[in-house]
Amino acid sequence: MQSLLAARRVPQALALSRRSFASSASRFQAEPTQKPVLLKEFKIYRWNPDEPANKPTLQSYTIDLNQTGPMILDALIKIKNEIDPTLTFRRSCREGICGSCAMNIDGQNTLACLCRIDRDTKSDSKIYPLPHMYVVKDLVPDLTLFYKQYKSIQPYLQNDNPPAQGEFLQSPEERKKLDGLYECILCACCSTSCPSYWWNQDEYLGPATLMQAYRWIADSRDGYGAERKEKLQNEMSLYRCHTIFNCSKTCPKGLNPAAAIAKIKLELAAD
Ligand code: SF4
Ligand code: SF4
Ligand code: FES
Repeated sequence: MQSLLAARRVPQALALSRRSFASSASRFQAEPTQKPVLLKEFKIYRWNPDEPANKPTLQSYTIDLNQTGPMILDALIKIKNEIDPTLTFRRSCREGICGSCAMNIDGQNTLACLCRIDRDTKSDSKIYPLPHMYVVKDLVPDLTLFYKQYKSIQPYLQNDNPPAQGEFLQSPEERKKLDGLYECILCACCSTSCPSYWWNQDEYLGPATLMQAYRWIADSRDGYGAERKEKLQNEMSLYRCHTIFNCSKTCPKGLNPAAAIAKIKLELAAD
C-alpha cells in the first residue's frame, strides 16, 4: 500500500513540475526581448567588369545591426543574402585563417571576418577592395602578381642532403626562429598598405613575400639560404623597403613583416 501511494505521488509531482515549466515557458514566450532597430549605413565599392564603361561607384546599403552578426563579414553576407545578390567579395573560413576576405575597411586593410562593425550609427562604414590592385569585381582584388611573386621565392624546403633516414630534425631554438613567420596567411593586407609596393610592385616583392623569403632563409632545415639571399641582392626586390612600417601596423594577424625585412637586410650586410 505504502509503495502504491508513493507511485501515485510521483506522477503528481511530475505533473506539478511540468505545469510550472509550462507556465514559465509561456511567460518566457509572452515576453520576447525585442532589441531596438539599430540602422547603420555601409558604403561599398562597386565595379562590374561586364560594364567597363561605367565608372566604379560607392553603393549605399542600410541594415539593422541588431539583426546582423558582429563582424563586417556578417554585414556583407547579410547584404548579399537579403538585399543585393550581385555584391561580390571573397570569403571562406570566417575565422581569420584563409586570408580571402582581406579588404580596406574604414581606411584600414584588414580581414572582414576579424573586423568588428563600428556600432556608432551616426557614421557610415566605407568598404573598398585592397588598395592599388587591379579589381576583378567589387571587393575582389586581382592577386595574380602577388601569388607570382610568392612563387618566385620558392616557398618550400630545398635541401640536397636529406637525412639518411627519418625526418629533418630541428632543435627547439631553431624551430623558435620560425615563430612570427610561419603564421602568415598571405592575405596581402601588408603588401597593399606599403607605398613602395604601390609604386614598384612590378619589381619590388613587398612585405608579405619578403617575410616568406625570410621564413625559408631562417629555416635550419633548408640548404639554399645563400641562393635565396643572392636572389634578393639587387636594387628592387628588397631594397625598395624604406622601413615605413605600414605593413606591420596593418597585419591582422599581428605579425611584423618589417622586422623580417630588416633581418634579411642585416644578413645580406653581414655576408
Ligand atoms: S604578414 Fe600579415 S598582413 Fe601580410 S600577408 Fe601575412 S598575414 Fe597578411
Ligand atoms: S616597412 Fe618596408 S615593406 Fe613595410 S610598409 Fe614600409 S616600405 Fe613597405
Ligand atoms: S574568411 Fe577567411 S580570413 Fe576571413
